[in-house]
Amino acid sequence: MSFLAEEARRVQSRLVQWRRHLHQNPEIGTEVPQTAAFVAGRLREMGLAVRDGVGGLGVVGLLEGGHTGPTLAIRADMDALKVTEETGLPFASKHPGRMHACGHDGHTAIALGTAEILASHREQLQGNVKFIFQPAEEGPGGAKPMIQDGALLNPKVDAVIGLHLGVIWDLPPGTVGVRSGPMMASTDRVEITIKGKGGHGAMPHQTVDAVAIGAQVVTALQTIVSRRVDPLEPAVVTIGSFHAGTAFNVIADTAVMQGTVRCLRESLRQRMPEHIERMVQGVATGMGAEASLNYRPGHPVLENDPEFTAFFAGVAKEVLGEGKVVTLSQPTMGGEDMSYFLNEVPGTYFFLASGNPAKGIVYPHHHPRFDIDEDVLWMGVALFAEAAWRWLDNQA
Ligand code: NI
Repeated sequence: MSFLAEEARRVQSRLVQWRRHLHQNPEIGTEVPQTAAFVAGRLREMGLAVRDGVGGLGVVGLLEGGHTGPTLAIRADMDALKVTEETGLPFASKHPGRMHACGHDGHTAIALGTAEILASHREQLQGNVKFIFQPAEEGPGGAKPMIQDGALLNPKVDAVIGLHLGVIWDLPPGTVGVRSGPMMASTDRVEITIKGKGGHGAMPHQTVDAVAIGAQVVTALQTIVSRRVDPLEPAVVTIGSFHAGTAFNVIADTAVMQGTVRCLRESLRQRMPEHIERMVQGVATGMGAEASLNYRPGHPVLENDPEFTAFFAGVAKEVLGEGKVVTLSQPTMGGEDMSYFLNEVPGTYFFLASGNPAKGIVYPHHHPRFDIDEDVLWMGVALFAEAAWRWLDNQA
């Protein structure tokens, strides 16, 4: 085992302590003042140069190595979810309606632990390691504002790495899932308004029924993926909300729908708004209504750099053993705003499986009984630290 992996093991109890502290005190979205202050405080104790308030409440800690060289960034997300915890754990959330149900408490603890052990070897580092802690991964998005506020500058970041914990397919705890190229989907949002003409439920001929037309629109939208998109190319169009009408016997004049549109290729993503617009307008006009669309771009496709990913997979095999690293056979249509960082600089995002049926840790992300097997925390530190160390060494 490498010396960094051994040191990662030695900080395990502190990782658990940090993770539990964060777990008990979850904060949501862009409003993560206590979490950010906690992170900044720990980084300062470790002797890092800290810039807080980056793009909102983001925190950037810079560890300057003893030797000049490039800069590798390690990214963690800090935000929790609007979920009421039902785990019954002794360190469960103290705040009803708020829960670290996506493991970001673990991500934050792992990045802090990595900072701690690398800081103790800063003289030997062949460059810098920048620790980026972002709010609002779960929405409205914290990566983009941090980039706009210079998180990847001064010094300029040359590569970036990040991870996600959780029940990852059926992978045993401590298994690393890597994938080269597109790994997670773009997440655009569309709002569709159908404007008809309301009236008495008994006299439909005098109205333009927004509910009936909206229903046709939803059905027609399903044919975009089935008929317009190459069957070998993944895409999702989901209408998740549909609101219309006020009474059982009154024809609604307006229907408002919201949906998510996901792709794994940027070129397809660019064509989706036109497909959707044409379909909605065609159906609505054909049935005598007017339609308007509000198409809001979300996170881009998350794409891992092939070369960096191969490098990382090699490191992970050495740190945890050959059998602990799997190449994911398929991407996921879930989204992640880590994609903004990976759009700017090469790097990789990987999964570290933390589900453990033997301990009853089987619930998916965002579930009120979501938990992580804390025994994998040190592995995250070992992976980050070893990858950062070696990557800087390789560039020297
Ligand atoms: Ni998450």
